[in-house]
Amino acid sequence: MFGRGKIPPLTPPDIWTCPAQHPITVSGQARGGFVTDQIDIEDLNRAQAKVELARLAGVLNAANAAYHGADAPDISDAEYDALKQRNAMIETRFPNLKRDDSPSERVGGPVQDGFEKVTHAVRMLSLGNAFDEDDVVAFDTSVRKFLGLGADAPLTYTSEPKIDGLSLSLRYEAGHLVQAATRGDGALGENVTQNAHTISDIPQHLENAPDILEVRGEVYMSHADFAALNAAQDKAGDKRFANPRNAAAGSLRQLDTNITRSRPLRFFAYAWGELSAPLATTQKGAIDHLAALGFSVNPLTALCDGPDQMLAQYARIETRRATLGYDIDGVVYKVDDLALQARLGFRSTTPRWAIAHKFPAELAWTWLEGIDIQVGRTGALSPVARLAPVTVGGVVVSNATLHNEDYIAGRDANGAAIRGGKDIRVGDWVQVYRAGDVIPKIADVDLGKRPEGSEPFVFPEKCPECASDAPREEGDAVRRCSGGIICPAQVVEKLKHFVARGAFDIDGLGAKQVEQFYRDGWIAEPADIFTLEERFGTGLKQLKNREGWGAKSADNLFAAIKDKSRIPLGRLIFALGIRHVGEAGSNMLALHYGTWDSFETAMTAARDPGPEWDELNAIDGVGTVLATSLVTAFAQPAERASIDRLVAKLQVEPAKRPDAGGSPVAGKTVVFTGTLEKVTRAEAKARAEALGAKVSGSVSAKTDILVAGPGAGSKAKKAAELGIKTMDEDGWLALIGAT
Ligand code: IVH
Repeated sequence: MFGRGKIPPLTPPDIWTCPAQHPITVSGQARGGFVTDQIDIEDLNRAQAKVELARLAGVLNAANAAYHGADAPDISDAEYDALKQRNAMIETRFPNLKRDDSPSERVGGPVQDGFEKVTHAVRMLSLGNAFDEDDVVAFDTSVRKFLGLGADAPLTYTSEPKIDGLSLSLRYEAGHLVQAATRGDGALGENVTQNAHTISDIPQHLENAPDILEVRGEVYMSHADFAALNAAQDKAGDKRFANPRNAAAGSLRQLDTNITRSRPLRFFAYAWGELSAPLATTQKGAIDHLAALGFSVNPLTALCDGPDQMLAQYARIETRRATLGYDIDGVVYKVDDLALQARLGFRSTTPRWAIAHKFPAELAWTWLEGIDIQVGRTGALSPVARLAPVTVGGVVVSNATLHNEDYIAGRDANGAAIRGGKDIRVGDWVQVYRAGDVIPKIADVDLGKRPEGSEPFVFPEKCPECASDAPREEGDAVRRCSGGIICPAQVVEKLKHFVARGAFDIDGLGAKQVEQFYRDGWIAEPADIFTLEERFGTGLKQLKNREGWGAKSADNLFAAIKDKSRIPLGRLIFALGIRHVGEAGSNMLALHYGTWDSFETAMTAARDPGPEWDELNAIDGVGTVLATSLVTAFAQPAERASIDRLVAKLQVEPAKRPDAGGSPVAGKTVVFTGTLEKVTRAEAKARAEALGAKVSGSVSAKTDILVAGPGAGSKAKKAAELGIKTMDEDGWLALIGAT
């Protein structure tokens, strides 16, 4: 919190100007007539209260800014709390005078480090990608298939540019902007409310808006503003920004609001989160409504009646790309009918009703200076191209992935030629491409520039880190180090994955710190992280005495670790770093099994064939490859023991099923069999899962409900034998209130 310091002067002239976006005009009478900080709250009249709230916002917000900017705060904790309380009490007496930059909107007071975290009322998701025309047609086909619509049934989409900035969620309550949050990991974002107040495209008040309205969109910087900003950075001797997106992100995520205010950020609205009343019945209608409320919406938004028009619109937007004056990296298509969007729903991190059609990657030529082999957490030997630095799409690239030995040799997984069969050699002149956030790759080699006497690259058969054999298993495209826990590279990569975003994401414990702790023998496996304080908080060797650490940073780290010892099940599963078990898969597993105990019991028991194995394979998004990898990991004694040691240190939060509370099928295991006539099987399954049910492919004693359509066979028979509740499709729809 704030350190002790001198008491701030309470009424200097300069605090009559609020540091937020609106300079406050104070009437002569108010300014000259009274000193508002001396007046008891119950004696304040309306004009005085207004002045006093402005003064308090100035003092408290400046104190916050000083704190975040690491300047010496000139106000003590107690004074801060007293002023904040005074502010809240005046706001209670004069609710209409509450300011948009009110200090009481800062949940929990000043934060320790960086921005406060805020939980999004509705998760902020990302979009699936389409890279070519076939992908767009496949998207339309999958939407139709899910909804059970024929190829000729009318289906309208919106198309709009994909803005290359960063997403922001703006929460309005009773028409006032009360919170702005970045996407973060989708569930938890950063509170950048004060900064959002400085962006002129973002309305501070809305007239006739729903009581609760979360508007989502993209913060971006125009090309002209970006060029001017970099020119100013040059002049001041400050670092240039690589591209407008980085500049926008760096400007919004400033702890000092004054810096954000000085940066010309803009905002396009294109989506929404929590709403107390619908905006419209269509996507386009909702966007028009947002425009009518005062938001900037993209003028290139259009309606399309199918893939042909979507692709035509893509071509039109691509032609305009260079003259728009801001960066876009593709076109987003969305199902227009919001009732259909609701039926389509979401996969774990992306909606089924929208897709981003990306523009082709940018290309550049450069020299390949070397090939290094990196060993990943699953032992994979990954070749990395070291390139003479080159700018691709505004970003300097000096590394590119080379995937595996076949890719270097010019063959794909099926033995077909890639790059016309040209191999890649050190010394080659290579063409590099970069699509969005994707790691750069090598698209082509210019054989005309190949140095004389160059040799094909010889891929190592031993691990370069621990010298263990690195065989290539049947059907695997990569060589893998067989060293397991004796391979330091594998262990350290596993640890880095463990603390990464999406996994434990421990503040103050990044890849660098993990590497150092591992090298010095402080941590050898994830469980050791949770005993760091016990071992290095006191005694002879203490973290605070290490180079680069101090009492405060050590305490912060211990607190951050303690904080993360309570962890959601999905994050824990992902953090284990088991091959093929990504973030989306981990969340699906967590939703399905609910608790660590039932997940762990199932993984221990699962054997092919067997009911636990069938149940695992029936989970949406789990295939045989993932299932095999998971079950194998749990069956390996060393790995299993390390997992057990870790879990003993944690409190694992059960996965929360959406709507679980009110739904009659929450927590129930449901099996669908026979023909469904009202909705497709995919929709029935997704709907049941969204209501908190578990959908299984086979009937067992654990089944609660069998939904049997015409033609149901052995499953219906088995359910009857087991006395399981069976209903037809209409009965099911009535049960879930969907008739
Ligand atoms: S819709 C539920 N529309 O692209 C989906 N996103 O790659 C909500 N983006 O995280 C997103 N322009 O930051 C949507 N016109 C647009 C967009 C857009 C840019 C960003 C957004 C999202 C990312 C996904």
